[in-house]
Amino acid sequence: MKKIICLGIESTAHTFGVGIVKNKKILANVKDSYTTIKGGIVPVEAAKHHEKVKEKVLQNALTESGLKLSDIDIISYSQGPGLGPCLLQGLGLAKKLAKQIKKPLIPVNHCITHLEIGKLLCKCKNPVLLYVSGANTQVISYASGKYRIFGETLDIGVGNFIDSFARYCGIGFPGGSRIMELASKSTKFIELPYSVKGMDVAFSGLLTNLKQKFDQRYRIEDLSYSLQEHAFAMLVETAERAMAHLRKKELLLGGGVACNTRLQEMCKIMCKERGAKFFCPPVSVLVDNAAMIAWLGILMYKAGQKIKVEKTDIKPYERTDDVEVKWL
Ligand code: ATP
Ligand code: FE2
Repeated sequence: MKKIICLGIESTAHTFGVGIVKNKKILANVKDSYTTIKGGIVPVEAAKHHEKVKEKVLQNALTESGLKLSDIDIISYSQGPGLGPCLLQGLGLAKKLAKQIKKPLIPVNHCITHLEIGKLLCKCKNPVLLYVSGANTQVISYASGKYRIFGETLDIGVGNFIDSFARYCGIGFPGGSRIMELASKSTKFIELPYSVKGMDVAFSGLLTNLKQKFDQRYRIEDLSYSLQEHAFAMLVETAERAMAHLRKKELLLGGGVACNTRLQEMCKIMCKERGAKFFCPPVSVLVDNAAMIAWLGILMYKAGQKIKVEKTDIKPYERTDDVEVKWL
């Protein structure tokens, strides 16, 4: 059977990426991210960034793969969830390319791509995914024809929570890696609010409390350390509850916050204690990237899940469990 080559486009938030995957092999994974020195992401500004870099990112991905546009068999793009103006940039390029080379177009769900790329690279089969990024915090797993959300944040995503605190302390955006670095300089545990409801979590109370303590001149190292211990314990607790509930024996990490080595360590310990396996893919596919978009494109195409170019759209609020999973 012919090996299928898919070109995937990612543009849900700050990252614009083009990835090329041939069967199970990543041939290119190029991206350019919008960053700010002060303040968070402004959707229209991020979209302008995407517009500016998209042709260059596309050309670099083709060069990296050693392929020409005419070698591509299918095009996939992030349909949602994400920021409307950013998603439109990805859709625009996807449609243009699909028309130009007259090839099928496949819209994919961004959250599910985190899971599928992890499964591919870590070789796990039926995991519970702890998906922890800026905007998203979800515990996802497959059950009866869909990837279902068993737990999620009731307010803000864990990455946005960490970034908001970092911004408040004046240490820039994104703050995750800076907070991790500061946390490594402390072992002083400060008790903070802990908010788990069933398999859901909430971070706004914790954020308010941390800001108050920062104003009261607690050391930022100690606050960073305690932030991680509390927030990650909440995440690990909900992931473990989902694993117990579903009787699943594999835990997979995904999303930018999964780059945090303390979170990885806590997940590893939890899995060991319950006789489960822990998997964490490389950083290049933990953060937003387009190789994962291309990979899900291949899976969906093989399962017959493509659509007509004229019918393509964006779905900024698409939920993981809105998607019919025909490829498993
Ligand atoms: P999504 O569209 O999936 O919500 P996103 O746009 O938020 O993704 P990601 O690249 O998945 O982007 O994740 C970015 C987040 O990861 C930021 O909030 C950043 O602070 C966080 N992050 C990165 N490295 C670390 C780290 N070492 N520890 C904690 N958080 C981290
Ligand atoms: Fe993401």
